[in-house]
Amino acid sequence: MTQLREIYFCEKCGNVVEILNEGAPALVCCGIPMLKQEAKTKDSSIEKHVPYVEVANGGVLIKVGRNEPHPMEENHYIKFIEVLRKSKICRVELKPGDKPEIFLPVNKEEIIEVREWCNLHGLWKT
Ligand SMILES: [Fe+2]
Repeated sequence: MTQLREIYFCEKCGNVVEILNEGAPALVCCGIPMLKQEAKTKDSSIEKHVPYVEVANGGVLIKVGRNEPHPMEENHYIKFIEVLRKSKICRVELKPGDKPEIFLPVNKEEIIEVREWCNLHGLWKT
């Protein structure tokens, strides 16, 4: 069975799917099984992907790249940042040229997980 909030990726076409309702044990795209994505949590290269959350005035500021912003170029950028709470998900979609950061008016204590999707390097969380 798929699990709520899991993310799947098609290696062939690049489709990214998030589970909104648990169902079939496997997803298929382009005739091949989609790959369940396990969010990475440790940056090992100079480029930083792990989302960094800091309390800001009235909410939280989430940056991809704590000190050095992740690239936001046409062929390499952060596609979305998601904040997961108990019964709410807030997803902000980004595009090349945007800053790789978002502000949300939520309490940091309510956040279960923050994750982001890099179009080249996949899923990351904090
Ligand atoms: Fe990246």
